[in-house]
Amino acid sequence: MTASNSDATFPQTPHFIGLNQPVGQEVALSALPVEGTLPAEVRGSFYRAIPDPHFPPKFADDNVLSGDGMVSRLSFNADGTADFTMRYVRTARWLAENEAGRARFGRYRNAFTDDADMAGVDRTVANTTPVWHAGRLLMAKEDGRPYRVDPITLDTLGSYDFDGALKSETMTAHVRIDAQTGELFLYGYEADGLASTKIAYAVVDPTGKLVREQWFDAPYCAMMHDFTITEHYALFPIYPTTADIERLRSGGDHWVHDMALDSWLGVMPRYGDVSEMRWFRGPKGVSCYHMMNAFEDADGRIHFDQCLSNVNAFPFIREASGIHMAPHEVQGALTRWTVDFKGESDEVTETIIGPPGDFPLIPAAMQGRPNPYGWMLSMDPQMKGPPLMGGPVYAMFNCLLRLDFVHGRPQAGHVVDALPLPVGWSFNEPVHVPSATPGHLGWIVAIVDHQTGDNTYEHAAWVLNAGDLAAGPVAKVAIPTRLRPQVHGWWVPQAQLDAAVA
Ligand SMILES: [Fe+2]
Repeated sequence: MTASNSDATFPQTPHFIGLNQPVGQEVALSALPVEGTLPAEVRGSFYRAIPDPHFPPKFADDNVLSGDGMVSRLSFNADGTADFTMRYVRTARWLAENEAGRARFGRYRNAFTDDADMAGVDRTVANTTPVWHAGRLLMAKEDGRPYRVDPITLDTLGSYDFDGALKSETMTAHVRIDAQTGELFLYGYEADGLASTKIAYAVVDPTGKLVREQWFDAPYCAMMHDFTITEHYALFPIYPTTADIERLRSGGDHWVHDMALDSWLGVMPRYGDVSEMRWFRGPKGVSCYHMMNAFEDADGRIHFDQCLSNVNAFPFIREASGIHMAPHEVQGALTRWTVDFKGESDEVTETIIGPPGDFPLIPAAMQGRPNPYGWMLSMDPQMKGPPLMGGPVYAMFNCLLRLDFVHGRPQAGHVVDALPLPVGWSFNEPVHVPSATPGHLGWIVAIVDHQTGDNTYEHAAWVLNAGDLAAGPVAKVAIPTRLRPQVHGWWVPQAQLDAAVA
């Protein structure tokens, strides 16, 4: 069961070398040994999404995010071993290119650069997040509708539109699930076409039925990568990475970052009408990919916690924008915007609450409610060498942090626990596995990369005590195959998988 592109030639750019070198290989590994003591509570499957181009791109300036979606499953088995499987998502695009034996779709999110006879073929690559809800596994990317995948075999079951209920042409890879109600909240931007300002906002009930979809206009067409909910509100942040239809028609880049434009936070009652949306103005030029959470305090104010930076963090977007900054000039921090939906002010109040970094994580049960603690990836300021090159930033994180917003010192970014890795090692985005023991913070599972030679790497899944990162892994599973950097992952408990299969 392999499909390999190892003979193909890819551009020798940061998007296709080092850790970013395409793997092009489907994998099925079983009964992998677990080193150490695997906690009994870590039973289930860790799904991860990566982009991995099946064929060299049509255009040499292609980027890492264009790659075909690969979904992998690391299953922690009852017998104490682990299985690892990885397969391409058979999107319409993958099938069309596979038949031709070459790339047929052009530049990143620019359909005007595709082969002419590909017009109308779904060009999403479903490479960003494996989303689990109501017993269904969806591979999502924000430029199209998701693909449904069998959670056990990883067979592609087809494009998914919630049984015809989803009218938006897109659904982002960042949905939010309220653990208390079981509902899934989703949105799509460019909902009716390239560079459109139309945003779709939808609610899916705990059985997976899409029960409501409403559309509204953003202040401008922006990359809306993530959003959040609270117990009573839905929050739509807008940062000025913008699209323009004329630029796309002329074969240009989808995204350009505009330092002169305001950022915005749209807030509406989450079961309300889009006509109730209020727009709060944030600073100009800022950017963010991921939010840790949002919640309401006792006074009804809304706190929105995000990994904010002073410019778009992706070098290829800055280059397309004519923004020339050295890596050290790109700065950020876990940043709180506070707004009062019922108050007078239309401005956000900004507070720095944590260090620079990304991939923030909280227990699923705290989604939309106050989170006394959380985790995120960052760079070890003491590191004695360059980070591993990989991902769209060309630099991998090498430090896992725990933040405690009750006991941590604000001056220290609320950091109370850290696991820095040595030079030559990197973390991919972790997932959280809850513990049933009162007071136990649960477990963290993450893929760790280690460079062992000029172009050789080893990869392993590490299991950590979420409340004692500094102690290092309690268990490890070596994964003896090359892995490209993960975009996002999802933890599915065994009981939920068993119920879905039944
Ligand atoms: Fe993301």
